[in-house]
Amino acid sequence: MNKLRFYHNHILGIEGLEPQEITSLLNLSDNFVENNRSEHRKLNNLRGKTIVNLFFETSTRTRTSFELAGKNLGADVVNMQVSTSSISKGETLIDTAITLNAMNIDILIVRHPESGAVKLLSEKVNCSVINAGDGTHEHPTQALLDALTIRRRKGHLNGLTVAICGDILHSRVAHSNINLLNIMDANVRLIAPLTLLPTQTHMHGIEIFHDMFTGLVGVDIIMILRVQNERMYGNFIPSIREYFHFFGLDYEKLKLAKSDALIMHPGPINRGFELDSDLADDVEHSVIREQVEMGVAVRMACLSVLIKNFDHNKS
Ligand code: NCD
Repeated sequence: MNKLRFYHNHILGIEGLEPQEITSLLNLSDNFVENNRSEHRKLNNLRGKTIVNLFFETSTRTRTSFELAGKNLGADVVNMQVSTSSISKGETLIDTAITLNAMNIDILIVRHPESGAVKLLSEKVNCSVINAGDGTHEHPTQALLDALTIRRRKGHLNGLTVAICGDILHSRVAHSNINLLNIMDANVRLIAPLTLLPTQTHMHGIEIFHDMFTGLVGVDIIMILRVQNERMYGNFIPSIREYFHFFGLDYEKLKLAKSDALIMHPGPINRGFELDSDLADDVEHSVIREQVEMGVAVRMACLSVLIKNFDHNKS
């Protein structure tokens, strides 16, 4: 039996986590995957606990999967819609925190368009906080579910070569994945046009490519990112056609990777922009649906460790 090693009160990012902490979370998630596939998947580890989903940005997968994760563990889950709450009336982040504190909730799950906002909130509330994506900074549970998907398919993370392709500049998914893959000793390649790469890709061991024709050669995993138009102020891309030609993944470019390479995408997909539509659904290569399934298990693992830690650290 593996001992659980994860002692944090919040999950705000992958940066700073230890390899054993990530491995612990993935091991626990593995158990939840099996549990969720069984007939008796409702558990009561979190009975009597209240979870609030506070999303300042739109979300389908992440919000729903946190909700399912909480409900599978027996918690009460409340979804706060920003458009119908007083946040749209101009209430500040701190006021929101004070309000939530008065309600004695146990875990707060936050998505916010500003990098750093979730950490700030975590310093003002008396409960555990999970970052469900803050600006372009981090989206830790996405990186964990990606790691779980890879580990279940390949058996390990270390030594694999993972190409992260596309809009890296605006992607919190890319940033969390780069952190996680580095910590777990995988090799990271970034493939992007110059306009969509951060100016500092300071991390040791990262290889940069400006075209897929060289970048994809021999890789084990291809992570395609969504082109995040909503975060672009200006012209980052000449045209959809040109982008797809150089940076969109299709069957032709896939041939450059290892024959058993896996295709991943965090969703939502812009079909025919960053990824060929048929390829996205081709289960011979694509594990995009599996990623969604893993998302529920990983979030159950995160919720259950935080409840344990918070109860323990309070007493
Ligand atoms: C990602 C996000 O919101 O950062 N989506 C997700 O959580 N599944 C990626 C994206 O929106 O492109």
